[in-house]
Amino acid sequence: MKILMNTELVSRSDAKVDIEDRGYQFGDGIYEVIRVYDGEIFTLDEHMERLERSAKEIKITLPCSLSELKERVKELVSVNAVHDGGIYMQVTRGVSARNHLFPGADVKAQLIAYPVPSKRPEELQKSGVEAMTLEDIRWKRCDIKSLNLLGNILAKQEASEADKFEAVMIRDGIVTEGSSTNFYAVKDGTVYTHPANHYILNGITRMKIIEACGHAGIPFEEKGIRAEDLHQYDEVFISSTTIEVMPVIRLDNLEYSGGRPGPVTQSLQKAFRNLLPGGNVYTQ
Ligand SMILES: Cc1ncc(COP(=O)(O)O)c(C=O)c1O
Repeated sequence: MKILMNTELVSRSDAKVDIEDRGYQFGDGIYEVIRVYDGEIFTLDEHMERLERSAKEIKITLPCSLSELKERVKELVSVNAVHDGGIYMQVTRGVSARNHLFPGADVKAQLIAYPVPSKRPEELQKSGVEAMTLEDIRWKRCDIKSLNLLGNILAKQEASEADKFEAVMIRDGIVTEGSSTNFYAVKDGTVYTHPANHYILNGITRMKIIEACGHAGIPFEEKGIRAEDLHQYDEVFISSTTIEVMPVIRLDNLEYSGGRPGPVTQSLQKAFRNLLPGGNVYTQ
């Protein structure tokens, strides 16, 4: 396997991280997960733009221009013959003696990217999943795709130990998002989701779902969904790069559309699939 390290493709055995890398010591960095379908990188521009934005928000200078980075990612996919899978990419503030303060300008950001297995979870997309709500204990800059994922990890682990697929997080009585997904609820045919502000990550899949709503003629609205109103909604679903549009059939003790994926969610699954490279080959 070849790994992208800054702007070079190196072998797996040459891809080494320094013990004083700030990503390792402080979680001082950002990341992206990108999906490859049918050998084609899906929404590469959007992921690279989000990476650039995250970098800017935490004052990291990327090791090269976005256009060069895109070319390197394409090479990475091609040299590793990724057909259906994912690319994980992270950028840290670089290597320097441990100190909370930013290092000097001579310390360069460190970027790595490599292929990761990723398969469409078709069975779960058909059956739907169960989720539980938990308090959102994260910081107030969830719009930055930071390597610091402790709040997310603790929530996902707690959900998993309760045999739930996802933890849906609540901040001040409002549903924000899942531990690694965006959250949506449907009422009378309209899809609602949290506004893309500092309390959620503006998912690339979320942006595509908004586009898919347009194609499918499904009304879409950004609003804070109150946790106490969750029982009033007809359908609930979550989304991410790896799970796409995933129906939630049970959330805590609430059951949606008779424990099966609801009609609006199913229409959106279809509309979303139509946006994928080679999307029309997917039956589910
Ligand atoms: C907290 C959080 N929200 C939302 C998402 C969905 O983002 P995307 O659709 O870009 O994968 C993710 C993805 O990892 C996430 O970690």
